[in-house]
Amino acid sequence: MRRFYQESWQGIPFTKISHLSFFHLAGSKFYSTFYEEMFARYSSWEALPLEWRENKHCTADWLINRIKQHRKALNLAPNEPYRVLSIGCGIGYVEKLLLDAMPDLELHVNEPSTVGLKWLRSYLPAEHVYIGIPPTFPSDIYYNLIYLSAVDYTISTRDLINLLENLRAQLEPAGEVVILSSSFLQEDSIIGSFVNAIKILIRGVLHYLGVRPQQFWGWRRTRKDYWQLLKQVGFFQVEDGFLEKSPETYWIVGK
Ligand SMILES: C[S@@+](CC[C@H](N)C(=O)[O-])C[C@H]1O[C@@H](n2cnc3c(N)ncnc32)[C@H](O)[C@@H]1O
Repeated sequence: MRRFYQESWQGIPFTKISHLSFFHLAGSKFYSTFYEEMFARYSSWEALPLEWRENKHCTADWLINRIKQHRKALNLAPNEPYRVLSIGCGIGYVEKLLLDAMPDLELHVNEPSTVGLKWLRSYLPAEHVYIGIPPTFPSDIYYNLIYLSAVDYTISTRDLINLLENLRAQLEPAGEVVILSSSFLQEDSIIGSFVNAIKILIRGVLHYLGVRPQQFWGWRRTRKDYWQLLKQVGFFQVEDGFLEKSPETYWIVGK
C-alpha cells in the first residue's frame, strides 16, 4: 500500500479551489468545492473529457454484464427488484449509464455531500440517495450488489474495513460487494517502497516551499492488500481481475 498525491483533477488545479494538505486526505468539503468548480466549467456529463467518459463506460459495461449474469443466476421473480447501492457515486456518470442500460434497476446511491449529485438527482427518487461519510442508509433495505467505483483510494484501511463490514451486513443472501479500483498498485517491493518514500520526501519539500503544492489524495493498494481486506471483513468467496477494455482498472468481488 502506498500513499499518493495529486495536484489537479479533470483539468482543475487544486490550488484554485482549496488550501492543499500534505498530510490530511481531501474531505467532503474539498470534493464539494471541487464539484462546484467542475459544474461551473462543464454543462453536462457529455461535456467532460472523452478519455474520462470512456473509462467510466468500461466500468459501467463491466457492471452491467455482472448485474445481468447475477440477476439471471438469482432467478428473481418478475416483480422482485434487483437492488444496487453505489458508494461514493460522485457526479453519477456510471450510475446514469447503468440506468440507461437497465431502466428497471433499483439503484440507490451514496455520496458524502449533495453537491456532486446535481445531474444525477433527477434520475433517482430522493429516498434512494444517502448523503454522508460514513454512509448512512436504512438498515432494513438489503442489496443484491453494492459497489465502490474509484472510491477505496480515499479511505484508510481501518475505515474501509468498518465500511465493508457494514456493507456486508446489508447484502441480500448471495449478494456481493464489488470494489473497482483505478488506483491499483502492481507491486510493493522494499526497493519500490524506498524509492517511493524518497519521491514523497521530495514532494513534501516542494509542497512546503510552495513550489508545487500537493494534496494527499489517498492510497494505492496491491492485489494482496485487496484480498487481505476482503478476507478480514469475512467474505468467504473472493474473485478478482482486470477490466478487459480498461486493463488498468482492477476489480475484486466478495460474497
Ligand atoms: C474519484 S471519485 C469517484 C466517483 C464515482 N464513483 C466514479 O467512479 O466516477 C471519488 C468519490 O468518492 C467520494 N468519497 C470520498 N470519501 C468517501 C467516503 N469515505 N465514503 C464514500 N465516498 C467518499 C468523493 O466525494 C468522490 O465523489
